[in-house]
Amino acid sequence: MRIFEELESEVRGYVRSFPTIFDVARGALLYDEQGTRYIDFFAGAGTMNYGHNHPDITRAVIDYLERGGIVHGLDKATVAKQAFLQKLKDTILGPRNLPYKIQFTGPTGTNAVETALKLARMVKRRSNVISFTNGYHGLTLGALAVTGNYFYRDESYGARNNVAFMPYDGYFGPDVNTIDYMRRFLEDNSSGVDVPAAVIVETVQGEGGIHVASVEWLQQLEALCREFDILLIVDDIQVGNGRTGTFFSFERAGITPDMVTVSKSIGGGLPLAMLFMRPDLDQWQPGEHTGTFRGNNLAFVASEVALSYWDNEDLARAVVHKGEIMKSELDRLADKYGELSPSVRGLGMVWGLELPQPGVAGDASRAAFERGLILETAGANDDVLKFLPPLIIEEDLLREGFDIVDQALGAVLAQRHKTMGTS
Ligand SMILES: Cc1ncc(COP(=O)(O)O)c(C=O)c1O
Repeated sequence: MRIFEELESEVRGYVRSFPTIFDVARGALLYDEQGTRYIDFFAGAGTMNYGHNHPDITRAVIDYLERGGIVHGLDKATVAKQAFLQKLKDTILGPRNLPYKIQFTGPTGTNAVETALKLARMVKRRSNVISFTNGYHGLTLGALAVTGNYFYRDESYGARNNVAFMPYDGYFGPDVNTIDYMRRFLEDNSSGVDVPAAVIVETVQGEGGIHVASVEWLQQLEALCREFDILLIVDDIQVGNGRTGTFFSFERAGITPDMVTVSKSIGGGLPLAMLFMRPDLDQWQPGEHTGTFRGNNLAFVASEVALSYWDNEDLARAVVHKGEIMKSELDRLADKYGELSPSVRGLGMVWGLELPQPGVAGDASRAAFERGLILETAGANDDVLKFLPPLIIEEDLLREGFDIVDQALGAVLAQRHKTMGTS
């Protein structure tokens, strides 16, 4: 580990949570340089939905490189991009009757968010944007401005204005409809909240600690946006690509966002980000919003293969089935470790186990890592264990992973009893 400590910035994070030197990976398994095996319940924070080094993706990328396929092309037309766009149209957009235009942005999620915010403000000629409590949208300054968590907001004293935060679904408990609350602010021209260009929302908040917006809330949000002529941006960077059981996470609510940001798993493991937008919103001048790494031909090749998972219903069905296993395992663990006051939240294959006592979730994540499981924490106080295995994980590995979580929670509880002198 010496070279990392010597040269890499203090900002490094996951190397501290998972302190080993990883070497190879396949499917839902990672191996470090000693050959120690780890089950992946993290999936690169939602990037490896189709698994690590999928053999068909690897083969396609190697073939492309061997035949001298263009790797870097800015936004020139390439054979790889053509094939990707066609696949996207045939497999995803066409069957869902979604007429979006596609804008390739810089290669990481925050670039897509920046693009959406800039375009929304440009089209609507309004500066304000509404985001939600516990929202996470990336850490470049525009995206950071719509990200709630103080830990990240504190990192910079740069401008983060022109954003108002509203309470997410359930923020005040089950009895308060937070869309009514928001409506009141919008109706009252003295509320101090300007009618925004756009609302940006995650249908399931990932980094914020796995908060699931209800179907009714999402539908009401869409209706509110229509009523006040506000653009609805769904940030599907973490929970899109099948994570909730459908390709786009908003499909369960039957809503049609004006814009959708997509990244992480869309690249089949390689960096790729894009903005889907309603065609009439595509008001850019040629070259008005550019970037050197817009579109990544290797990622197009990988993505075209990955999108084949959506040629039929098999993956969607598998997500529902494995999601049920995850829920029942988590309910069992919540029951067994009631002393830790746990609560279970989630949908599809994105689940959270909130462990509100300070430090417990972090200790459990460390104990899981020591036992061969990669499991990260999320939430405002890092008090939620976040379960995000690759969608293609084998059932026996999924169950083995939960056995490790069981052991880890047992170890954490035993340690707490020891510290407190109880048994
Ligand atoms: C919902 C959401 N939006 C945006 C981002 C930012 O993506 P990136 O880290 O690739 O910039 C993330 C990252 O976790 C995310 O979960």
